[in-house]
Amino acid sequence: MCGIVGYVGFRNVADLLLEGLHRLEYRGYDSAGIAVLTEQGIEVRKRAGRVAELGGLIAAQPLIGHVGIGHTRWATHGEPNDINSHPHFGGNQQVAIVHNGVIENFDSLRKQLQQLGYVFRSQTDTEVAAHLIAHHLDEQIKLGGSADDLTTCLKAVNATLDRLKGTYGLGILFTELPETIIAARSGSPLVIGVGRDEYFLASDASPLIGYTKEVVYLSDHEVAVLRADGLQIEHRHTGNIRPSIQTLQQVSADIELGDYEHYMLKEIYEQPQTVENALRGRLDMEEATAVIGGLNLTPKELRKIDRIVLTACGTSWHSGLVGEHLLEEFARLPTEVEYASELRYRNPPISDRTLIFAITQSGETADTLAAMKECKRKGHPTLAICNVVGSTIAREADGGIYLHAGPEIGVASTKAFTSQVTVLTLLSLYFGRMRHMSFPAGRRIIRQLRDMPEKIQKTLECHDKVREVADRYYHFNNFLYLGRLHNFPVALEGALKLKEISYIHAEGYPAAEMKHGPIALVDQQTPSVFVIPRGGIYPKVMSNMEEIKARKGPVIAIACEGDRDVARVADEVIYVPDVEDYLQPLVCAIPLQLLAYHVALLRGCNVDRPRNLAKSVTVE
Ligand code: G6P
Repeated sequence: MCGIVGYVGFRNVADLLLEGLHRLEYRGYDSAGIAVLTEQGIEVRKRAGRVAELGGLIAAQPLIGHVGIGHTRWATHGEPNDINSHPHFGGNQQVAIVHNGVIENFDSLRKQLQQLGYVFRSQTDTEVAAHLIAHHLDEQIKLGGSADDLTTCLKAVNATLDRLKGTYGLGILFTELPETIIAARSGSPLVIGVGRDEYFLASDASPLIGYTKEVVYLSDHEVAVLRADGLQIEHRHTGNIRPSIQTLQQVSADIELGDYEHYMLKEIYEQPQTVENALRGRLDMEEATAVIGGLNLTPKELRKIDRIVLTACGTSWHSGLVGEHLLEEFARLPTEVEYASELRYRNPPISDRTLIFAITQSGETADTLAAMKECKRKGHPTLAICNVVGSTIAREADGGIYLHAGPEIGVASTKAFTSQVTVLTLLSLYFGRMRHMSFPAGRRIIRQLRDMPEKIQKTLECHDKVREVADRYYHFNNFLYLGRLHNFPVALEGALKLKEISYIHAEGYPAAEMKHGPIALVDQQTPSVFVIPRGGIYPKVMSNMEEIKARKGPVIAIACEGDRDVARVADEVIYVPDVEDYLQPLVCAIPLQLLAYHVALLRGCNVDRPRNLAKSVTVE
């Protein structure tokens, strides 16, 4: 969703902001803009549409300066157009701001400001904050302050923040205040990059990569002052704090496309490596268990746990469903998977012995964060399985496990899914070995896990066949995805991928449950994608497949190498390596990712930036 970038230093700020906005494009947006402190005051260029179009505008009307802020907007209040794009001016252009989050009391504040004579140009909630800062600046000046004085400006910002309800990450420029950005955070992430005689501001680390490795993550209720000669951070209630500088792990190659046409394809191909990263240092052959360091609970506390709740959204919820099978199978721990958006408002009974895991790639999903906070508020230990280091959920959690998958830029999640499933397998092994699982069983799982990066590499060999299948089926408008047990979540995930990036209607169903409704949809125009590797209930899934064929439904099957029986029934077979049942989601998800990718390409869709979607959904 919305993205923020800011810079103060010696570089040409317009170029830097534009590059930063390009790097934030993956989050999903519909307009973009920048504000630069120039000799004429603050100048703004903004435009609905892509960052490239904003680039064209800036090339035609250049901005010269070394201090500025930029924004990609994903419309919430008011349609995506030039006027509603950020930055927004406040008052008589004394101030310009960019904002992530939602100001919930914007309506009443707008009325109050209109009564005071402020004229609103946009429909956004953000413009309220801009005028409010200008208003409080005027108030401070009446009390003897000065518009070019930092203390006066900070007082105006703090007086404004006192009146805002909702969430914000703010980047603020004052016309009269030389060479300064003020940033403030409550509920919407901000990270500051520390350079030599320069500072960067951003809503996530991607614009900073390649410029600096030193970062400071702003916490809620903190206000930062960025000037070329220094950084000052103040907690609004407790006063000045010493910034804690952390090291950014990512390198430029992580966010570059390299030889790939799309980030989604690059990320699909990274999976042998990302699964290996998720396993690295976490397999203990001696003890036949997983090494999980960050749970921050003692073995004694962990042994007392008798129930697990996994909460997440989207793809992460699907990996949670795989996790449910694994935790129940390996550790015999009753597990429930809750949509975070539901859990946050439900009040399910949760005992002292329940452990909650929020699963999230970005660590910023608003619903997942809210569900986690609600559980924490009730005193339950709440952990995270998260990819983005330093993200809000990673920081709020009592402990957790990182995926180490590197930045995921394609909006449709791919490598995060397989990394989450890998980590959940490790977690299940860990809990299993604390409970019922034998030493030989633990060792067997470790050996099988070790082989997975290679098996995933092998799975990618299905790419040509998937391309062929996509070519034959891309014009269909309805798909069913069917699988059972561990592969039912894979079917859901396959259907979600297709919906997300090709805009084709697709439904994931447990293969046998299909008889209770979806079978009515089956005809020659409705292909069914079966996830049918060998294993426990393979013959049952075969029967389900026959049922579809009997009704003339085209069948695409994901099956194990060498499976001729499936080939006799299905119209198309995409082969994957034969692995244990519990590891099948790791290989079966991959052809489905590739299928969605090629179908979307053939339908002319923007694979990496599908319409209406955002990479991290930071609003409710
Ligand atoms: C958005 C993304 C999905 C993602 C979901 C949860 O909807 O488009 O790809 O699965 O959010 O995101 P998270 O970062 O919490 O895993």
